[in-house]
Amino acid sequence: MYGNAHIEKTKSPKNILEGEDPAKLAEFEARIERGEKIEPMDWMPKEYRRQLIRMIEQHAHSEIIGALPEGTWITRAPGFRRKLALMAKVQDEVGHAQLLYSAAETLGKAREDMINDLISGKSKYSNVFNYPAETWADTAIIAWLIDAGAIINQLANSRGSYGPYCRALDRICTEESFHLKYGHDTVVYLATGTPTQREMVQNALIRWWPPIMHFFGPSDKISVHSEILMKWKVKMASNDDMRQKFLDEYVPKIWDLGLTIPDPSLKKNEDTGKWEYTEPDWEEFKRVINGDGPCNKERLAVRRWAEEKGAWVRRALLKEDSRYSTPLA
Ligand code: COA
Repeated sequence: MYGNAHIEKTKSPKNILEGEDPAKLAEFEARIERGEKIEPMDWMPKEYRRQLIRMIEQHAHSEIIGALPEGTWITRAPGFRRKLALMAKVQDEVGHAQLLYSAAETLGKAREDMINDLISGKSKYSNVFNYPAETWADTAIIAWLIDAGAIINQLANSRGSYGPYCRALDRICTEESFHLKYGHDTVVYLATGTPTQREMVQNALIRWWPPIMHFFGPSDKISVHSEILMKWKVKMASNDDMRQKFLDEYVPKIWDLGLTIPDPSLKKNEDTGKWEYTEPDWEEFKRVINGDGPCNKERLAVRRWAEEKGAWVRRALLKEDSRYSTPLA
């Protein structure tokens, strides 16, 4: 972990730049304007550090929790090849969490503290992973459309200002592109299969559409952090712009497969070039991200269990007085 970082534990002060050295701040913002990367040992405003920790940590938690809904299907995947592919994908997601926790650590927050904040329910993670994967088709929709949404977000932000986060996102996007192909292939297989398979994938799409619309975050009008994150090029597109980009790229592909999206108002306004849709239920979104979704308790219970079961490994690794280990056999 990198040292000397002072992390603000409290919420942002009213004036988020209170107490910052104006000359250093101006130089920092000029560097961002020029498209330079900010590296861990560089000077940065406290709010930049606080926002990055919040966002990267939530992202890391989303990857590790995101492995769970699909992970429950490894033992039930239809056929050996699909099982192998799903196992590789789930492993990748856990690897993404590793990369992201490491990126967040460069800002001075210990991994143990991040994990503790996750399992105590203090930290957020993506809304979508609080819903169950009821059938095999749900895993296909997750792999295709959730990963598509993630790529849109991550590809944009990989061009952002904080070096370690951008480098982690570059690597993650490469792997996510494979997940997307795997997910698309599985959805196409089901959508062009037997009537039962088609019905299964259609129902999964109906279940996942509202969480997918929530995935990009609240509308720009009510987004809390977008303004400062975009000013400092941490976030490279607004929530609504990312949602629009997703609709632009994926609605035609979904319709091509003859699947129905459960929103009768969804259409592209050819004059504005924007998609029009039924406003997502933001009350449900708030409930889910604040711990009251269908699977929040179950997801955190699994992480708590994993933390307890793995404690002996961490203790063994940290045993400084033991220089050799004796093999048992
Ligand atoms: N799931 C859970 N929480 C979400 C969310 C989502 N899909 N979208 C927004 N939120 C939360 C935010 O974390 C924030 O909560 P906080 O103030 O308690 O931290 C609150 O809703 C307000 O949203 P907003 O001001 O728009 O947050 P933001 O500017 O950070 O934008 C993201 C939200 C998800 C777009 C942004 O954080 C991001 O790009 N994160 C990195 C990518 C990521 O985490 N992807 C998820 C899994 S692949």
